[in-house]
Amino acid sequence: MPENTFLIDVKTLRERARRHIEQGAVTEGYQADREAVLNFLNDALATEIVCVLRYRRHYFMANGINARAVADEFLQHANEEQGHADQIAARIVQLGGEPNFSPEGMLGRSHSAYVEGESLTDMIREDLVAERVAIDSYKEMIQYLGTKDPTTRRMLDGILAVEEEHAEDLATLLERYDQRPYAGSVSLQQMNDEAIAMHKEKRD
Ligand SMILES: [Fe+2]
Ligand SMILES: [Fe+2]
Repeated sequence: MPENTFLIDVKTLRERARRHIEQGAVTEGYQADREAVLNFLNDALATEIVCVLRYRRHYFMANGINARAVADEFLQHANEEQGHADQIAARIVQLGGEPNFSPEGMLGRSHSAYVEGESLTDMIREDLVAERVAIDSYKEMIQYLGTKDPTTRRMLDGILAVEEEHAEDLATLLERYDQRPYAGSVSLQQMNDEAIAMHKEKRD
């Protein structure tokens, strides 16, 4: 996929992420607008669910081609995204709203895309793009909330920190696999061995 396609997609997705925040900013009063908060939390919930689905698909596909170490990373991210979805759904209920788990329109509400990816590097790249979009949209929500809703803000701060770790993990994987003269022809076994070595480095 050409590089500029990613840029266009990210721009569109970011604009979508801002939509509800802008609506919230024009309402009266200083305190957070509950409807706006519920709207963007439901968009964030859809984003997390789409991320769970994408990471799980990538986990099974990578596992199937014996890229075990990368698959394990995908699975770990999938489980953490599920945890975020649960936190967000619980907060929506606390705020008197209803979490929207309807599959209908899920992708439209999500800030990040569901891209299956052809190769292991495609999958890593797509996940990295999705994480970057999530990071940007969480930053915007946090900025909007300011001091108006400290509980929601604290929750989003925690989620944002994890998304930043995810992006860093993926950027490291991509650097390993994508910037080599023989990228594309490298064997999966070799990629797997390198990913295992990288995990060891991280632990030490
Ligand atoms: Fe997440
Ligand atoms: Fe993430």
